[in-house]
Amino acid sequence: MKKLYYLVMIASMSLAGVNSFAEPLTGVSDEDVMTVLKNSFSPVGDVTLDRLEQSPEQKACSQMAATGQPIPKEVTERLLKQAMASVKPPADKQFLGDWKVGEKIAQSGVGLQFSDKPGVASGGNCYACHQMTKSEIAFGNIGPSLLNYGKSRGNAAQMLEYTWNKIYNSHAYTACSNMPRFGSAGILTEQQIKDVMALLFDPASPVNNE
Ligand code: HEC
Repeated sequence: MKKLYYLVMIASMSLAGVNSFAEPLTGVSDEDVMTVLKNSFSPVGDVTLDRLEQSPEQKACSQMAATGQPIPKEVTERLLKQAMASVKPPADKQFLGDWKVGEKIAQSGVGLQFSDKPGVASGGNCYACHQMTKSEIAFGNIGPSLLNYGKSRGNAAQMLEYTWNKIYNSHAYTACSNMPRFGSAGILTEQQIKDVMALLFDPASPVNNE
């Protein structure tokens, strides 16, 4: 990303009304921006400054957003492959844990924030982006509804594997995914991923049973 873009809004008194256009901001390098960012934050508790470093996917996707140029096909393919290579299947090959624990993880937005007690177990905050159960009416919709996920898709080995991979590293299927990389970024443990998997697939889970 050689140039930063900023939006200039000019309100004019003329009949033309409001004009808006994007202009490249010249003379400011990526390094300048990183220096400002690094000087603006300090590490607190579990939160270190390495999260200011973009992953290869974030870099490519930010560049696409800034320039409007699509990511070249071969770059996308490489990014998807790299993301998939970071996925670790469950060591005991058991994909499903306890849906009741999974529901608590899906509800919890705790973890990895400067205000959290260091070492506290993170939640998945799944409801922030997904509808999952009928009884929870406070949910976000950046992601698709996961209501009846297991009921509508079944629990064939391929479906379990796809869902595990997606939760572990969402970029393995969508290079510019907005979903956190719960396994690869160390947000959830293997056991916690099993528990949210059970929330999605267990026939007794409220996801499939309300
Ligand atoms: C910040 C938003 C966000 C959070 C938090 C989030 N997701 Fe997602 N999720 C998405 C988006 C967006 C998609 C659509 C595909 C994509 O862009 O990657 C998605 C897709 C999925 C899919 C694939 C759905 C399909 O139709 O195949 C599953 C499964 C899923 N999420 C599970 C979860 C679980 C479980 C959690 C919590 C541990 C979670 N997500 C947290 C944004 C989020």
